[in-house]
Amino acid sequence: MIKIAPSILAADFANLERDIQKVRTADYLHVDVMDGLFVPNISIGLPVVQSIRAVTDMPLDVHLMIDRPVRYVERFCQAGADIVTVHVEADSEENTHSALEIIRAQGKRAGVVLKPGTPAEAALPFLEKCAMVLVMTVEPGFGGQKFMEDMMPKLQTLRGWIDERGLDCELEVDGGIDPVTCKTVIANGASVLVAGSSVYKAADIPGRIQELRG
Ligand code: DX5
Ligand code: ZN
Repeated sequence: MIKIAPSILAADFANLERDIQKVRTADYLHVDVMDGLFVPNISIGLPVVQSIRAVTDMPLDVHLMIDRPVRYVERFCQAGADIVTVHVEADSEENTHSALEIIRAQGKRAGVVLKPGTPAEAALPFLEKCAMVLVMTVEPGFGGQKFMEDMMPKLQTLRGWIDERGLDCELEVDGGIDPVTCKTVIANGASVLVAGSSVYKAADIPGRIQELRG
């Protein structure tokens, strides 16, 4: 079954608990952490993850858009993340391996993220350690951008590798997912769909979450 991960980047941060409850029929809660360095935007960090943890039982899917995430992954796990994904572009291969190992040692699910310009091959060295691979379908940093259909060959390649190797690894997409593009990503192998604006702008949020399952 296709899983939906609403992104709270599109929520009203002054009413975050209320907006988290609005998406409780979804599978994961997607939390976008930005440091103003790896991406040209600053969002939320550790204390907010900790506060969210206290008000929901939904699995927290924490997408770290930060430079050298190995410095912070342990603390995000301790703050209550269930899944922590790190960008392969954010550090050396060695440090990315270390970040994944730290996350796993905390008993959490680890994953890597690929920016649009990063080829599928960049995920290969890490696949065996990953419970999740996230393919960005927009440039990370902002919600509400246009879906990049040209990421579909990359998605297909990763789906092939995951299936051939029989890996227990989810394949997630993030950016521009709506009731039309959801069908495209599902057809190309995605199993978890992040959606910010298309969920929070919907008049009927549970209905929209259901619609995005394809
Ligand atoms: C972008 C974030 C996304 C963002 C998606 O850097 O990683 O999670 O919230 O927003 P939409 O669904 O509006 O494209
Ligand atoms: Zn994200």
